[in-house]
Amino acid sequence: MQTTPAQKPSSLQARSYDPKDWQRGNDSQPQEFDYWIDDIEGEIPRELQGTLFRNGPGILEIGGHQLQHPFDGDGMINAISFKDGKAHFRSRFVRTEGYLAEQAVGKILYRGVFGTQKPGGWLANAFDLKLKDIANTQVLYWGGKLLALWEAASPHRLDPSTLETLGKETLNGLLQNDAGFTAHPRIDLGDEERETRLVGFGLKPGLSTTLTIYELNQAGDVVEQQARSIPGFAFLHDFAITPNYCIFFQNPVSLNLIPYIVGLRGPGECLKFHSQQPTRIWIIPRDQGKQIQVLETDPCFVFHHANAFEQDGKIIVDSICYENFPAIDHHLDFREIEFAALPPGQLWRYRLNLQSQTVERQLLEKRCCEFPYIHPQQMGQPYHQVYLAAAHQEEGNAPLQAILKLNLKSDQREIWSAAPRGFVGEPVFVPQPQPLGNAEAEGWVLTLVYDAAHHRTDVVILAANRINEGPVARLHLKHHIPYGLHGSFTPEYFGPTI
Ligand code: CO
Repeated sequence: MQTTPAQKPSSLQARSYDPKDWQRGNDSQPQEFDYWIDDIEGEIPRELQGTLFRNGPGILEIGGHQLQHPFDGDGMINAISFKDGKAHFRSRFVRTEGYLAEQAVGKILYRGVFGTQKPGGWLANAFDLKLKDIANTQVLYWGGKLLALWEAASPHRLDPSTLETLGKETLNGLLQNDAGFTAHPRIDLGDEERETRLVGFGLKPGLSTTLTIYELNQAGDVVEQQARSIPGFAFLHDFAITPNYCIFFQNPVSLNLIPYIVGLRGPGECLKFHSQQPTRIWIIPRDQGKQIQVLETDPCFVFHHANAFEQDGKIIVDSICYENFPAIDHHLDFREIEFAALPPGQLWRYRLNLQSQTVERQLLEKRCCEFPYIHPQQMGQPYHQVYLAAAHQEEGNAPLQAILKLNLKSDQREIWSAAPRGFVGEPVFVPQPQPLGNAEAEGWVLTLVYDAAHHRTDVVILAANRINEGPVARLHLKHHIPYGLHGSFTPEYFGPTI
């Protein structure tokens, strides 16, 4: 996010990176690729079998016009398939209606949520309220379908082997009129009594916000659906689950759409943070016969939650919080962002006491961090290990250059940094195959690292129980991939036949 610098950067002398290096990781990558990765340092563990899918903006300019923000970039899917110590790379853009139309004419035809405008000034944009569906946030293999997710529209379904776009997913007709579906579904593996489910939600804004929660079984069928209404505008990018609850943090922001309607701003630029208003925590029972509850806590802004669980009559939620959400200055180039002037994301623990209706919160990690990831078996359960993309330096906001493992029980940390010229993405934890992979730290952490020294991206494999020792393998791609958003791993191999 760009903003008008509110304060002087305090750590210029200690900066762990060159801003020009960071900027080049935002260069467009319009090309698509399909090849075996043959430039490898170290060795790919032979037990690592399956496919890492990643999603993120692939192009950041169209016809010579730069997009206003990377979040407005067309979704490009990357698939790295591992088998027998080998790895294959494939990338393809999601063939959204907007991608096809704009690429055909080589110019911007749509407005973007984060401020991208059609050429021609506000007159060319006023009253055009059709936003481009960019399918760029998450990609997930579930129920035999590969889904590219972007929260303001229905998912796109892709072929997991070829990454070809097959069409829009409606969840058997439940998502009507291209209704939104979260980019952050959660998978509850269940137990002896409860089946494995994917839990997701869609939002319908209005004077109050209607939240529809969908629970899908492993075949991909919706087996539970409930709609709940919460007052006011709600910006809900992510949520957390436990066996009994879905938990949503309603950030203290309001939305004034007039600058959007008259063609001056994107809707994402019309958000205003209210530092005097509380953050509301909505606790929605997964059993729709039970009452919804709401608690209040200190104002903060949350995009992502690490996990939640139930313990001793309380609900514990761990989340990445920013002390505020700075107003976005439409006139600043996002590449000129002054990281040090922005608040860092930090990991906080919230203890929700439903009896006393109180919330206690505690800082777990002050180092700037994002993209929390946990062992899939711990989702909604008590857990100890969280993996984070983090800043190299301990204080202040900075680009993500390190992978941090935090043990929440012992408070021990392990860190591997790619500074000064490397910039990391989300750390995807992959458990070792059963029966070995029961312990929380038995497995690997996969992340894409932009290497500014070679203007290319590496697929980095870290041993989850030896993060400090650095990569067990570094797979050099032949090109760079712009900084991505989210991804997931499936033990199914979708690469070419070996
Ligand atoms: Co997200």
